[in-house]
Amino acid sequence: MARKPIVGGNWKCNLDKAGVSALVTSLNGMDCTDCEVVVAPVAVHLGSVVDNVKAPIEVSGQNCNFKGNGAYTGEVSADQLVDMGAKWVILGHSERREYFKEDNEMLRQKLEYALSKGLKVIFCIGEKLEERNANKTLDVCKSQLEPVKDLLKPETVVIAYEPVWAIGTGVTATPEQAQETHKQIRDYLATVNADMASKIRIQYGGSANAANAPTLSACPDIDGFLVGGASLKPEFADIIKAIA
Ligand code: G3P
Repeated sequence: MARKPIVGGNWKCNLDKAGVSALVTSLNGMDCTDCEVVVAPVAVHLGSVVDNVKAPIEVSGQNCNFKGNGAYTGEVSADQLVDMGAKWVILGHSERREYFKEDNEMLRQKLEYALSKGLKVIFCIGEKLEERNANKTLDVCKSQLEPVKDLLKPETVVIAYEPVWAIGTGVTATPEQAQETHKQIRDYLATVNADMASKIRIQYGGSANAANAPTLSACPDIDGFLVGGASLKPEFADIIKAIA
C-alpha cells in the first residue's frame, strides 16, 4: 500500500517575528513535490505564516480547544484556526499530556471537535522511558489510540509516534525500534479496521534529523516524521528529501 509521505515541522514555543520570516523564506525554497509538508507555528505567528508560506506547504495549529469559541481564557479554537487558514492541528503531543494534563477523554473531545470543523489532525502517541523499559510501549500506544479508534480516518488523521524519551534529547529510536513499534501500532489498527490500518500514515517523531532520516525513511511502516528542533533549521529540507 503506497502511502504519500508526510513531514510535519512542530516549531513548538519558539521564534520571534524575524525568525518566523526567515524560516518561511527558507521553507518557500524547499522542494515539496513528493512529500506533504505541514508546519506548526505558535498561534500568535500562525496568520503571518499562512499569509507568506507557499503552497503546497500547509499550516497547522499546535493545539486547540476542546470546544468552540467562548469563555476559555487562553485557548485557541478549531474555528479560529480554520478562520486563520490553518488546515491542520497537532493534538495529544506528549508535552500537552505532561505539562497541561491532557488525558485521553479530553483528547477525544478535542479530536472530535477539530475534525467536525474540517481540520486534519496529527494525533500524537508515545511512551515514556520507564514504560519502554517495562516493555509497555505497545500497551501505552494502544491505550492512547483505543479511545479515538473510531475517529481514525486516513484522509483526515495522521498518527505521530513520538517516544517521549527521544523527544528533544538527541537520542533517537533506532530504526529497528522505530519500525517494530510502527508495525505493532499498524497491526493493532488492523484489528480495528484493516483498510484504515493499511492507509493511515504513521510519522516518527523524536530527534529526527538530516542524519537519521534516510535510514528511518527506509522502514516500511514509517510514513514520515514529526520534527521538532530540526524543523527550525535548513536541514528540514534534507528530512523532506529523505522520505520523499
Ligand atoms: O512533535 C515533534 C517533537 O516532539 C520532536 O521533537 O526536537 O526531538 O525533533 P524533536
